[in-house]
Amino acid sequence: MMNADINSWEEVILIYNSALKSIETKVSILNDEFQHVHSYNPIEHVKCRIKTSNSIVKKLKKNGYEATIQNMVEHVNDIAGVRIICSFASDLYAIAEMLANQSDIEIIHIKDYIKNPKPSGYRSYHMLVRVPIYLSDKIVYAKVEIQIRTVAMDFWASLEHKINYKFEGNVPDRVRGELIECAFMSSELDKMMMALNEEVNSIAANAEEE
Ligand code: GTP
Ligand code: MG
Repeated sequence: MMNADINSWEEVILIYNSALKSIETKVSILNDEFQHVHSYNPIEHVKCRIKTSNSIVKKLKKNGYEATIQNMVEHVNDIAGVRIICSFASDLYAIAEMLANQSDIEIIHIKDYIKNPKPSGYRSYHMLVRVPIYLSDKIVYAKVEIQIRTVAMDFWASLEHKINYKFEGNVPDRVRGELIECAFMSSELDKMMMALNEEVNSIAANAEEE
């Protein structure tokens, strides 16, 4: 299908950049509509990134593949990455469902690390999707890894990433234990903030009725 159609590194960049733009626009439209219907923005911010050629080659080698364009496109799922940071876990699932319902987004797989956190304590909702890119003479399809998480989940993940980087993966047990404890606390914080938000909304709705 698409693999044979992407021939050079420049083309890889062009196509994955286009895929990022496409998802970014979709997310921005959903956020605007949410604002229109519910009078608030569920999305705090969105980060898009293309994996560096160095990281792509490193990942291919780690998994035992030769560094070819074909292998990149086929075996590296996160060349294009979009991270959507929401205020509340409830919004996160709503956004995921709205994206999933769009007919030009094909879902390859979902990993729900919120319902099933990783042993590290990592929480996030991951969607691997494929989107069409309309070029002058052909349609190509590109994968995008979408990570949807709350502000608290993002805070935890970025600290944990930095710590892993510092210790080059060999994080002392005590630090690892503290990180798991922090992950638990961040999950409790998410629950409390969500409940509080719901309570405030219902008080506001009752006040409107009176
Ligand atoms: P990768 O080879 O790391 O891409 O793993 P995968 O293909 O099995 O996908 P997975 O869904 O496990 O992870 C994809 C991405 O999620 C990673 O590149 C990170 O950005 C993020 N992630 C996954 N696990 C962790 C974790 O324990 N800590 C942090 N900070 N981020 C994680
Ligand atoms: Mg990855």
